[in-house]
Amino acid sequence: MQAAIHATQMPIGLPDLAAVGRLGAAIARRLTVGDAVLLKGDLGAGKTTLARAILLALGHEGETPSPTFTLLQSYALKLPVAHLDLYRLKQPGEIEELGLDDALNEGAALIEWPEQAEDYLPDDALTVALGAEPRMAVLSGGGRWPTLIPGIVQEAA
Ligand SMILES: Nc1ncnc2c1ncn2[C@@H]1O[C@H](COP(=O)(O)OP(=O)(O)OP(=O)(O)O)[C@@H](O)[C@H]1O
Ligand SMILES: [Mg+2]
Repeated sequence: MQAAIHATQMPIGLPDLAAVGRLGAAIARRLTVGDAVLLKGDLGAGKTTLARAILLALGHEGETPSPTFTLLQSYALKLPVAHLDLYRLKQPGEIEELGLDDALNEGAALIEWPEQAEDYLPDDALTVALGAEPRMAVLSGGGRWPTLIPGIVQEAA
């Protein structure tokens, strides 16, 4: 049944940074080893802001530099997290050199601009599609995420 594949696609309004904080906390609470969170959306849509909210909820204190040039930034938290920004990836295969597989073996990965290497990313990822006008997100995903998304949206509202 084709329709069922995209059945769990839930929108949530993000009118201010507090709302992003709640969404970040609701996602962080459910993250485990091997999880990838794909952060989609145009320039300025709020991908890095949500990644920072997730890191904060996982106990990160201090700087969270955008991995625009390093492409991958690691955080040694209770759940190790890799934050990736693939905007400057020259070709999809280049992602194999970044150590994403190792990062997913150890912990979770938050990935901005996943469109740049779609074929190399896990099918069971949580996808958060962000928009700036109006500020909002649409959550969808494979694996266990369809069962978790309604709870995330409820907690973050
Ligand atoms: N829900 C929101 N409400 C209000 N302001 C927001 C919200 N989300 C993000 N912002 C603000 O929008 C700006 C851009 O956000 P951010 O850097 O997270 O975008 P991005 O999607 O990562 O952009 P890029 O594609 O350049 O990496 C920041 O100043 C941030 O504080
Ligand atoms: Mg960004």
